[in-house]
Amino acid sequence: MKQLKVGILGFGTVGTGVVRIFQNNSELISTRLGGELVLHRIADRRPDREREVHVAPELLTTSCEEVVSHPEIDLVIELIGGYEPARSLVLEALKNGKHVVTANKALLALHGDELYNAARDAGVELLFEAAVGGGIPVISPIKESLCANRFSEVAGIMNGTCNYILTRMTQEGADYAEVLKDAQDKGYAEADPTFDVGGIDAAHKLAILIRLCFGTRIDFDDIYVEGISEVTALDIEFARQFGYTIKLLAIGKEDNGCVEARVHPTMLPNNEPLAKVDGVFNAVALEGDFLGPALLHGQGAGMDATASAVMGDVMSVARDVFSGSIRRVAPMSYPPETVVDLPVKKMTDLRCPFYLRFTTDDKPNVLAQIAHILGEHHISIASMNQPERHAENAVPIVILTHEASEDSVVEALMEIDKLDVVREKSRFIRIEGSLA
Ligand code: NDP
Ligand code: HSE
Repeated sequence: MKQLKVGILGFGTVGTGVVRIFQNNSELISTRLGGELVLHRIADRRPDREREVHVAPELLTTSCEEVVSHPEIDLVIELIGGYEPARSLVLEALKNGKHVVTANKALLALHGDELYNAARDAGVELLFEAAVGGGIPVISPIKESLCANRFSEVAGIMNGTCNYILTRMTQEGADYAEVLKDAQDKGYAEADPTFDVGGIDAAHKLAILIRLCFGTRIDFDDIYVEGISEVTALDIEFARQFGYTIKLLAIGKEDNGCVEARVHPTMLPNNEPLAKVDGVFNAVALEGDFLGPALLHGQGAGMDATASAVMGDVMSVARDVFSGSIRRVAPMSYPPETVVDLPVKKMTDLRCPFYLRFTTDDKPNVLAQIAHILGEHHISIASMNQPERHAENAVPIVILTHEASEDSVVEALMEIDKLDVVREKSRFIRIEGSLA
């Protein structure tokens, strides 16, 4: 029987899920492959730690180097995360002729080109379905089933931790810090959770999708990134009163040779499909010129769902190896020599409706002063709400605008914040209509 020997780097949340699939579904996997996957080594710096699975001690090692250089290992699964030593280990594995499967979006977003080139030079596969959308197949449909399409948009909810936090804040009025801790306990969050709540993890995924969909290199620093830490219970409640839900969206668009790349909290009308994606679920909306709109939906993080995507890649490599057809598809869909460098649209050029929240003194003429400054910046008011006081003699004033330019909103708010009657820095949240 044909065999592919596998080594794993990192026996944490996802590594444990992968081992569980090896243990529970090996017969099914062999039947589907017409060959066998053999788990040969697992490297982790704390191999003896308590885990949900039991493995034979001789499979375990503390040395990642042993795995990437082991003469019998054909494929390395990188699940330690982060930039270093993950980058050096993956490069070493590729150089040693091993196929690599990784879930490490941070690594791919910043060092992707170096790794894709190393895989090409070594004539091996580099697959990373789990890097975007956890268990949802996103990468492989873009590379394969949908590859006849010209994409104009790829957008959605791409961080399970943030969606879990925002959902529980919205539905239960839960406390931000408590829900974040819960998301960490459930294995959804990154080793450094500021990557999740700061929007960086979603931006890593967006960088990968923009490259796959539009065939352009994107400098990670060109992606606008704003996380959820400033979204308050008050904003969530006002959004609800206006018929909206707040989600952290990652938005990539290509229009006339220019790319939009942004991650930020967004207000969506409640009837939008993305507004109904709750908990740890993610959804990626695509717009293809022949496909039209499509929405890929499923669990965006967690041990089992992510391991499912990792093992799908491992089986895909095994099929290619067993059938003698490796490197049939370029890791990033476009052959490297065809990749271009499209300019990225500045955030100041963005136009959309806005939610604005001001905290002001509760006295006459305040609203008139704010409305006057908005009018001077050509910002037209669509609706407003001034509820009861929420602090000593201070009231929130909430305004939804018609479509306006981001630079005029930023300038208007700076001017408004200088008024004597304004108590706190004013807040704005961008509003999106339908995505894909
Ligand atoms: P974990 O932190 O749970 O697992 C990583 C494991 O690798 C830990 O056991 C860690 O040990 C070990 N490790 C880290 N550095 C080294 C090293 N230098 N040498 C040996 N062992 C090391 O992370 P996850 O399993 O959650 O994530 C793994 C990867 O999968 C990351 O790239 C993440 O972004 C990605 N991912 C995770 C998802 C999820 O839902 N969790 C979903 C999609 C992708 P120690 O605990 O001591 O640090
Ligand atoms: N920390 C990530 C998330 C894991 O919460 O979405 C999945 O990539």
